[in-house]
Amino acid sequence: MKTLLAQGAESRLYREKDNVVKDRFPKAYRLKQIDDPLRKARTRREAKILEKLASIGFPAPRISSTDSERFISMDYLNGELLKNAIEKKDYKKLSKEIGKKIAVLHNNGIIHGDLTTSNMIFKDGIYFIDFGLSFFSEKNEDKAVDLHLLRQALESKHYKIWEKSFSETLKAYKKNAKNGIEIIKRLETVEKRGRNRQK
Ligand SMILES: Nc1ncnc2c1ncn2[C@@H]1O[C@H](COP(=O)(O)OP(=O)(O)OP(=O)(O)O)[C@@H](O)[C@H]1O
Ligand SMILES: [Mg+2]
Repeated sequence: MKTLLAQGAESRLYREKDNVVKDRFPKAYRLKQIDDPLRKARTRREAKILEKLASIGFPAPRISSTDSERFISMDYLNGELLKNAIEKKDYKKLSKEIGKKIAVLHNNGIIHGDLTTSNMIFKDGIYFIDFGLSFFSEKNEDKAVDLHLLRQALESKHYKIWEKSFSETLKAYKKNAKNGIEIIKRLETVEKRGRNRQK
């Protein structure tokens, strides 16, 4: 039996036994000439990154198939969204694990593009999902922005723990990332830029 697992702004996710199908369905509010290529690009992007992640053994759903247009089939991760789990568990330990895993992504030239605790699943450790905005880059700037987006997500969703959580994440990141020190310096620049824009 197929059941609706989640309905986001961009996609619907269906579960059937151990399998999940992510469907980037057509959006009526977008012009077709814009919507079609956008959905296709995100589907291809996510599929490509999931294949790469499987090849390096990174904890993410294993992709089984895609039509390279709107559908991706992948393993169902039977766990809890980190968003709901992190504050109930040892959040410092989990935050460290997040930092270490982001470093692995970045060391392989992968920028996630949407790092939030809604895009992580806690099972036997943390798995990352939702690679529709991901891309390949070796630039410190792109890596710093990736970390900055996580900081913003933590700040808004986990306001009680975010500061300690993010500092644990950065500590672990620095220890494990290539050019970690430079990337964190860059992060400070990115954050100053953000603050100046808000003024
Ligand atoms: N492989 C999976 N196993 C278990 N649950 C999943 C899996 N993939 C997605 N989910 C669930 O579905 C939700 C939405 O998935 P996802 O984040 O990939 O889609 P989205 O936010 O609509 O992304 P996009 O912006 O790329 O369209 C997740 O928060 C999670 O609860
Ligand atoms: Mg998501």
